[in-house]
Amino acid sequence: MKAAIYDTYGPADVLHVDEVARPEIGDGDVLVQVHATTVTTADWRLRASAFPGIMWLPGRMMFGLFAPRNKVLGHEFAGRVVSRGKDVTRFRLGDAVFGFSDGGAHAQYLAVGENAAIARMPAGTGYDEAASIPFGAVAALVFLRDFAKLKPGRKVLVLGASGGVGVYAVQIAKHLGAEVTGVASTANVGLVASLGAGRVIDYRKQEVTDGAETYDLIFDTAGIATFAVVKRALAPKGVYIPLEFGAREILQALVTSVTGGRRVVIGVNGDTREDMEYVAELVEKGAIRPVIDSRYPLERIADAHRRVETRHKTGSVVVTVAADGAAESGAA
Ligand SMILES: NC(=O)c1ccc[n+]([C@@H]2O[C@H](COP(=O)([O-])OP(=O)(O)OC[C@H]3O[C@@H](n4cnc5c(N)ncnc54)[C@H](OP(=O)(O)O)[C@@H]3O)[C@@H](O)[C@H]2O)c1
Repeated sequence: MKAAIYDTYGPADVLHVDEVARPEIGDGDVLVQVHATTVTTADWRLRASAFPGIMWLPGRMMFGLFAPRNKVLGHEFAGRVVSRGKDVTRFRLGDAVFGFSDGGAHAQYLAVGENAAIARMPAGTGYDEAASIPFGAVAALVFLRDFAKLKPGRKVLVLGASGGVGVYAVQIAKHLGAEVTGVASTANVGLVASLGAGRVIDYRKQEVTDGAETYDLIFDTAGIATFAVVKRALAPKGVYIPLEFGAREILQALVTSVTGGRRVVIGVNGDTREDMEYVAELVEKGAIRPVIDSRYPLERIADAHRRVETRHKTGSVVVTVAADGAAESGAA
């Protein structure tokens, strides 16, 4: 099968599409023919070894000290079950599924455990759309529902509201009953309003956290704020959650958990089957929708990475994966 390979850390040019063996499945796995996948910020970080701050060494130890251990990236996908292990009961042959993988989705086929964070694709959703959902939607859900414990009526400010996580943060915060303000550049103001933000601040035209307005939660998906600056815009018991964090934020989270008042909360979200099924339900009932920035065929994977690296994509960068001898994927 074809897969996008990277043998070494480096710029997008290190990626190349090559023939590799189709993955073997175990008794509890399904083999998925991948129709669409994405390049997420996680894929870019792994390829470039761009682990933030003090995460660099742990990142290299986890993913390969001198060269990447797993040579095929791709952490979310949508496709069809084409083979299954003898113990599999959750999925049938032909089921359209989407979800997370531990890498390996930038390929024509992917082996994944039936109880991994995967689910049936929401009815009426195409492969490109479905592949765009898991990474951003589950991260937004876990950070807002579990880490921030967001309640109806709370005031939320989402920094990076048009990005991969941000587009879902706006929609899920709204779904949880919050009053949402999104922050985006001029071109994305309309998009963020259409996702449900009651107010959108254009950061190119206006100071975002000048303290004129205060929030119960400031969720920074863009890695642009600091606690020192945003705390003047936090309510007395308000919480600041940066998705990108380093030693400074770890220390601030420890200190503010003891002192109370305005707090910093940090975390890393896990991916579960239950959350994927919940997210699929949210899509099916129209509470959230995917946003696609651009589409690239697998052969142009390096261009997809270059787009992600700009940090100005709107939603997701989709990679379409054609079967051998077939035209590129379309809707399910
Ligand atoms: N801790 C965890 O468990 C976890 C989980 C998921 C993701 N992450 C991390 O979270 C981060 C967000 O990922 P993502 O996929 O959402 O990123 P992304 O798609 O690259 O989003 C970037 C966003 O930042 C905005 N932006 C860029 N420059 C800005 C500036 N100067 N001022 C204000 N906004 C600016 C962009 O808006 P405009 O284009 O409108 O400027 C865009 O909305 C990544 O670093 C990822 O590694 C962490």
